[in-house]
Amino acid sequence: MEIKVTQGNIVEHATPALVVNLFKGVTAPGGATGAVDHALSGLISRLIESGEITGASGEITLIHTSAITSGGSGSGLAAERVLVAGLGESEKFDYEAIRRISAQVARRLRSLKVKSAATIVHGTGIGGLDPAQGAEAIAEGTILGLYRFDKYKSSKNGDGDGEDGEDGGNGLELIELVEMDGSKIAALESGVARGDSYANGTNFARDLVNEPPNVLSPTEMAKRASAMAEDAGLRIEVLEADECRALGMGSYLSVAAGSTEPPKFIHITYEGDAGNADNNVWIIGKGITFDSGGLSLKPPGSMVTMKGDMGGGAAVIGAMQVIAALKPRINVHAVCAATENMPSGSATRPGDVVRAMNGKYIEVENTDAEGRLTLADAICFAKGKGAKQIIDVATLTGAVSVALGKGHIGAFSNNEEFYGQVEQAASERGELIWRLPLGSVTKRQNNSVVADIKNTGGRGAGSITAAHFIHEFAEDTPWVHLDIAALNMSDSVSGVNVRGASGASTRLLARLVENLAG
Ligand code: BES
Ligand code: MN
Ligand code: ZN
Repeated sequence: MEIKVTQGNIVEHATPALVVNLFKGVTAPGGATGAVDHALSGLISRLIESGEITGASGEITLIHTSAITSGGSGSGLAAERVLVAGLGESEKFDYEAIRRISAQVARRLRSLKVKSAATIVHGTGIGGLDPAQGAEAIAEGTILGLYRFDKYKSSKNGDGDGEDGEDGGNGLELIELVEMDGSKIAALESGVARGDSYANGTNFARDLVNEPPNVLSPTEMAKRASAMAEDAGLRIEVLEADECRALGMGSYLSVAAGSTEPPKFIHITYEGDAGNADNNVWIIGKGITFDSGGLSLKPPGSMVTMKGDMGGGAAVIGAMQVIAALKPRINVHAVCAATENMPSGSATRPGDVVRAMNGKYIEVENTDAEGRLTLADAICFAKGKGAKQIIDVATLTGAVSVALGKGHIGAFSNNEEFYGQVEQAASERGELIWRLPLGSVTKRQNNSVVADIKNTGGRGAGSITAAHFIHEFAEDTPWVHLDIAALNMSDSVSGVNVRGASGASTRLLARLVENLAG
């Protein structure tokens, strides 16, 4: 799939499908949509009048023009089809709305079996948005929306039932952004390149999450991270179990103890400000390639999606791919302490006490609260290397779905300024976060009788006690924790997401890094 910018007049532009748009409540379309309406002798206006086209958000109306119906002549339009995309109310319109509608339009075009299409840049007229950022949002939404994981499907086109984005098509090769004004072309092109990078990094993360756990072991995850790093020109180091033991990572290794798959501690470095080591941010992702719960074994219904328990790790690795392409002026370190969590004769038992890299003793009350054990040592490692700010992303708790549902990522922080920056980056990418409190009452729930802390906080506030645990290791370093458990996988086709992995938090991380670089 290629997305390119073409200078020209959309009315004269020959294409199998032309995408124009309409805001809700507009009765006489202007701008590019107006010009197309005029070339169609007012057909769009009549469809608005009759109520078939309303401009409601997500509404897509297909019109076959005479260029297809009479074999190329007749209408004043060179396009064979026109798709009118509803943009909803103009006051509520933003870049996320462009991403969503672009994803929906792209899936519709694919199901129509057209090979190429042309579109105007949405929202830059009465929407008042910036053209380059609009182009970025179109590219991002299109590539994200067309994503499919069909490597284990014998039929690559899907059966057309609409599930998993299975629209029966596979041939959409080109989308052109058509712009009349030659002075805008370069800006639109750089916007498209940025949108491409954001979407491809996210799709890379999605692929890792969607892979079955017999394929994506910690070893395979490290291999894919290495291949990405090599392509992107990033430094990568993978620590083996004995190196981690030498560093004192008893907490992380206690999770790996029950598995025959060796753990891999993945550390990727992007050097964007070489002379200034303190200008850094560490992005740390939970990397449990399969979470059975360990000896505190999960029931089958809860275990079935646990191949996705490395979604945080996938996000930080995917974000590094984006960051390498965007080249912000800041040093970025990504860490994923990858391991399986399995039950066996060598597995950690409930009641075991383990020692983290910073010397703190942890009572393992429940081996299914394993993510925080791996994050504890990853954070100690980052602090030991001079981390100035740390953000961790993790499919950490089922409780976050109970608290917030699927609309927001659960967020926690010890620093107002850093939190504000994360919130800003998240909303800029349409990945909403919601902050939960780290109060003194819930903190006490982690108190252990025998050790410094225990890894579970009992009944109530499950996501908060998990965050308190991680805070114990981040200490005073500016830190944000994101619990992405509810959003890591999508069970429906909606906006930029299809069924399966969403790549949640990949884009917000890359955007955060860009904003921190200034
Ligand atoms: N990986 C799970 C959390 C999870 C649940 C992610 C559902 C995605 C969907 C995590 O390791 C876990 O098992 N958490 C436990 C913690 C409990 C034992 C304190 C949970 O949430 O039940
Ligand atoms: Mn678990
Ligand atoms: Zn887990």
